[in-house]
Amino acid sequence: MTTLAPVGATPQPGSTTKKSFGKTPDGQSVDLYVLTNKNGAEASITNYGGALVSLKVSDRNGKLADVVLGYDNADGYFADKSYFGALVGRYGNRIGHAQFVLDGKTYTLAKNNGENTLHGGIKGFNKALWAAKTLSTKDGQSLELYYLSKDGEEGFPGNLKVTVIYTLTDANALKIDYTAATDKKTVVNLTNHAYFNLAGQGSGDILGHLLMIPADQFTPVDAGLIPTGELRDVMGTPFDFRKPTAIGARIDQADEQLKLGGGYDHNFVLRMTMDHGESLAARVVEPTSGRVMEVWTTEPGIQFYTGNFLDGKTVGKGGATYPKRNAFCLETQHFPDSPNQPKFPSVALTPGETYHTVTTYKFSVEK
Ligand code: GLA
Repeated sequence: MTTLAPVGATPQPGSTTKKSFGKTPDGQSVDLYVLTNKNGAEASITNYGGALVSLKVSDRNGKLADVVLGYDNADGYFADKSYFGALVGRYGNRIGHAQFVLDGKTYTLAKNNGENTLHGGIKGFNKALWAAKTLSTKDGQSLELYYLSKDGEEGFPGNLKVTVIYTLTDANALKIDYTAATDKKTVVNLTNHAYFNLAGQGSGDILGHLLMIPADQFTPVDAGLIPTGELRDVMGTPFDFRKPTAIGARIDQADEQLKLGGGYDHNFVLRMTMDHGESLAARVVEPTSGRVMEVWTTEPGIQFYTGNFLDGKTVGKGGATYPKRNAFCLETQHFPDSPNQPKFPSVALTPGETYHTVTTYKFSVEK
């Protein structure tokens, strides 16, 4: 049973509480849903942009900390340009020259990143008000979010019906299940843009976190951060995270790709399993707290981004500020610019097909 506790009540383990989070500029109510599990972990999600606002998990001594960056109210999310915790669509990451060809037809998109389209355009899914429904599943508390992206929105073809289900499981995992269907052939690439700091949001840089990504290749980029089309071996480069390595160990090396990204801002090519289930895409250990996060996904790629564009000017939760490299993102995805890269896995969605991907962030501790 889902228990919807009244506003102001303290969340009970294994429940969902709904609170007011403010209003949109045109006066619509924005809500915050606080999901708890039986171990005291807590995930707060707003229906504005479907953003994960906070995520509280234990360290090795059982002490909770909020491990994602965010804002205290809806106003922060309207003003946000960093995509803190947001659901990103219709196309996560960049589409080069803000256009693509599908079945011989050229589609022109909104440019919001130099010459390119980034994260769905000027008004992406992160700036939409989603319809929300709480659910109780066998795995834990869930929040189902729904958004209809209209035919032509930001230049994309087809009415796209999108459902995203967040579940906070009793095994301390945050599962995100994405489905979509269209009435015209289109391209889709959905993700979540949480910024993590496993020592706690606002607690400093993430350079000491140990990262492992089981990827043998990554997709190098040009000066506009558009993949060149090459799949490059990570062997012998600062992109080899096949063994756990501190994020900061090589980040300032004189490497052409690190310079282009201002740090890490690259898609890694994941080893795919044959059964189409979720595979391990990354494992991160924060040594001082002992917190461990694993990312599991059905997606073929993951964008590892080290918060290179954070500038410390934005005021976040509880007055925290977020300087450069104070968080990292691990955005599961199809590869950037896939609509223009015939050799990359396809992102086309046809009427009658269902887009379905799953990504799970699993939390534990190491002694
Ligand atoms: C992604 C991109 C970055 C940056 C962030 C948002 O990670 O690859 O270049 O745009 O989103 O700031």
